[in-house]
Amino acid sequence: MGLSKTWLCHASLLLGSLLSSLNVVRADNPLVQTLYTADPAPIVYNNTVYMFTGHDEDGSTTYNMKDWRLYSSSDMANWRDHGSPMGLTTFSWAGANAWAGQVVQRNGKFYYYVPITRRGGSMSIGVGVSDNIEGPYRDALGKPLLENGQIDPTVWIDTDGQAYLYWGNPDLWYVKLNADMISYSGSIQKVQLTTAGFGQRNGNAQRPTTFEEGPWLYKRNSLYYMIYAANCCSEDIRYSTGTSATGPWTYRGLIMATSGKSFTNHPAIIDYKENTYFFYHNGALPGGSGYQRSVAVERFVYNSDGTIPTLTMSTNGPPQLGTFNPYVRQEAETMAFSSGLKTEVCSEGGINVGFINNGDYIKVKGVAFGSTSPKTFTARVSSAANGGKIEVRLGSTSGTLVGTCTVAATGGWQTWTTVTCPISGATGTQDLFFRFTGSGSDNLFNFNWWQFST
Ligand SMILES: *[C@@H]1O[C@H](CO)[C@@H](O)[C@H](O)[C@H]1NC(C)=O
Repeated sequence: MGLSKTWLCHASLLLGSLLSSLNVVRADNPLVQTLYTADPAPIVYNNTVYMFTGHDEDGSTTYNMKDWRLYSSSDMANWRDHGSPMGLTTFSWAGANAWAGQVVQRNGKFYYYVPITRRGGSMSIGVGVSDNIEGPYRDALGKPLLENGQIDPTVWIDTDGQAYLYWGNPDLWYVKLNADMISYSGSIQKVQLTTAGFGQRNGNAQRPTTFEEGPWLYKRNSLYYMIYAANCCSEDIRYSTGTSATGPWTYRGLIMATSGKSFTNHPAIIDYKENTYFFYHNGALPGGSGYQRSVAVERFVYNSDGTIPTLTMSTNGPPQLGTFNPYVRQEAETMAFSSGLKTEVCSEGGINVGFINNGDYIKVKGVAFGSTSPKTFTARVSSAANGGKIEVRLGSTSGTLVGTCTVAATGGWQTWTTVTCPISGATGTQDLFFRFTGSGSDNLFNFNWWQFST
């Protein structure tokens, strides 16, 4: 991380105190609380939703975006942090601006299309590639796939195998990708933005239609959908439909009105476990703004004619799919909500929760303990400071205390040990809260994984 630990610590304290002073409901939107995220790009793979995002650095007062982030969920309520699968440093030619990208799968590989400002050049589209959806991604080409000064790539592979790359702001462009996904055929095409296709914008002669940026292309049944950030500024989200992947497009209107303290937005839609989900971003975290954004999600049902209902930003988010199993090892960085803390790369692999201060907490939603309470709780922890306690609570941060685990000093922030403590009275399906306590204003300890046992 580029920021000092002290600074992060202060930011964490600020987030935590703001959350408690505002008495915010323990909502599950935004989906990530440990840092600011933007431009969600979900993909369903292996029965799991993998959500790639941009990353607004803490304290940003303009766009300050250096890497991309990845989270996954199999219940749409608890999200696991996979850290950063790709960054500007992946691309030797990158100058700045790790903006809105999307991952698609093909040929047993994952391709990550991203806009980046080329050093000494203009906004370009780069392609990362990985054999593993979680990355790390490497530069597939060693140079941009294309460069025309415009942003926000979206890729759809049609049922006949033809892949289309769309992108653009203020124009909308597309090109047909070859089957290798890292080259294209023909020249890049500019979509004719007509008011019939993209709606009428008032008061902007340069941009007569509502299309602004952030296109998201997909097909449902035989209808193609182009969803996009519209109007400016602040943006809302609108869409058009077409009978082919290259149109012609028919304007269909508003999906999500301007709201939520971010003057930009970015849509994404996926189907998962028989439901449909709409992803977007806003500025709903403490400190949130157009440069400190957060991704969020709503569930919706298509109208019978295939049109999309108007959606509003919520704090509850979608209902959980199924329940969460406390009797297998679970990562501490899998959570429905948290306050104060952050995550970092763990020496034992993956990610751990860190930068924990007194009063911080993690919420894990819909944990199925069953009719008999577990007898023990085990946690993998470390502390270069004096440690602290993990209070295991049900329902809320002040809900029933079913156990307390003491964490002692281990001599290093990546010197790990396992602690176990007794549990009683944890039955049924509950929202589980880990509330962290300790003395002093320093970080208390780190937390890698946990498990309950009967
Ligand atoms: C698919 O998910 C299962 C269960 O979560 C996991 O064990 C497996 O490693 C995953 N496979 C891949 C290829 O990601």
